Amino acid sequence: MKMKNITIIGSGVMGSSIAQSFAVSGYNVTVNDMKEEFLFKAQRRISENLSLLVEEGKITELERQAALASLEYKADLEEAVKEADFIIEAIPEVIEMKWDLFNRLEEIMKPDAIVASNTSTFPITRLMEDAGFADRMIITHFFNPAHLVPLVEIVKHEKTKPEIVEKTIDLMNSIGKSPVLLKKEISGFIANRLQTALMREAFYLLQEGVADARDIDTAITAGPGFRWAFTGPIEIADFGGLDTWQRVFDNVAPDLNKDTGAPAIIRDLVQQGKLGTKSGEGIYPYNEGSISQKLEERDRNFIKLGKIKAVKKGIEQD
Ligand SMILES: NC(=O)c1ccc[n+]([C@@H]2O[C@H](COP(=O)([O-])OP(=O)(O)OC[C@H]3O[C@@H](n4cnc5c(N)ncnc54)[C@H](O)[C@@H]3O)[C@@H](O)[C@H]2O)c1
Repeated sequence: MKMKNITIIGSGVMGSSIAQSFAVSGYNVTVNDMKEEFLFKAQRRISENLSLLVEEGKITELERQAALASLEYKADLEEAVKEADFIIEAIPEVIEMKWDLFNRLEEIMKPDAIVASNTSTFPITRLMEDAGFADRMIITHFFNPAHLVPLVEIVKHEKTKPEIVEKTIDLMNSIGKSPVLLKKEISGFIANRLQTALMREAFYLLQEGVADARDIDTAITAGPGFRWAFTGPIEIADFGGLDTWQRVFDNVAPDLNKDTGAPAIIRDLVQQGKLGTKSGEGIYPYNEGSISQKLEERDRNFIKLGKIKAVKKGIEQD
């Protein structure tokens, strides 16, 4: 069965962006949320994102229009899922909410529909504690902004059928994503474990006054981060020489921060209501208007990087 109809449940930050990724790749996409007003918001966000892709030459105006035409917005869950071949839930990270949704889906979805969760933290065994469709359940963990970042981490339940895993990987490849399959369950999956290890050290350096925030950020974006878009840490160890990396580990690892909770700087700012761009202040100060400008600049840079990576992928496949 070729999958055609995709339903995304939850039209927030992730859901709208995931829906857009399928729409630009020619799928029929239905977006569901609890209220029409949330769906209007998602529709506006998708339209703006698509316009930016046109401006940056990633898609044509005709492709933008085709993507918009392939999207439907439905507040009625039953209507939204009845034709779906592949359903992705992107509702809040609250286990009871996910369980309620899965119970409801079990009653109304097609018997062969595949269900994916975009959870960032729940093990798939916990998600499926109370539902009877673990054999066609899978985690597809996208990264924000999901229409621009290629990675999708895939986690299977011990009961997930192998063909469901295969179909999910094929589907992600068909929308230009880079799926990665975990061989076993682990909290934080792969990317967030690696990212958290690095962020712990970044905030430690800030706390210890080793450098200011801008210089710590530049040390990554101009250094390791510059390489990481194309060369992962394991390959970097090979390129640098494993003998060199043995000495780096032996000399530096004992000095690394080993805290097990959130850094004090983050805790203090959260307590003051300073949550970053969403509240107007975080580690960095932001002026009126500078937040949307910064987010747009980020997206434009990601689009450019995505184009370079797509070319490289094309060459590798030839
Ligand atoms: N934000 C991120 O960076 C990020 C990254 C990866 C994964 N995730 C995961 O993706 C999921 C969604 O996160 P988000 O940041 O998009 O959240 P969000 O709060 O932006 O959006 C959630 C949406 O789900 C809707 N919703 C709630 N209950 C619903 C229901 N029963 N049926 C239909 N819609 C419902 C809400 O109205 C809201 O629009 C979470 O599991 C989160 O952990 C988030």
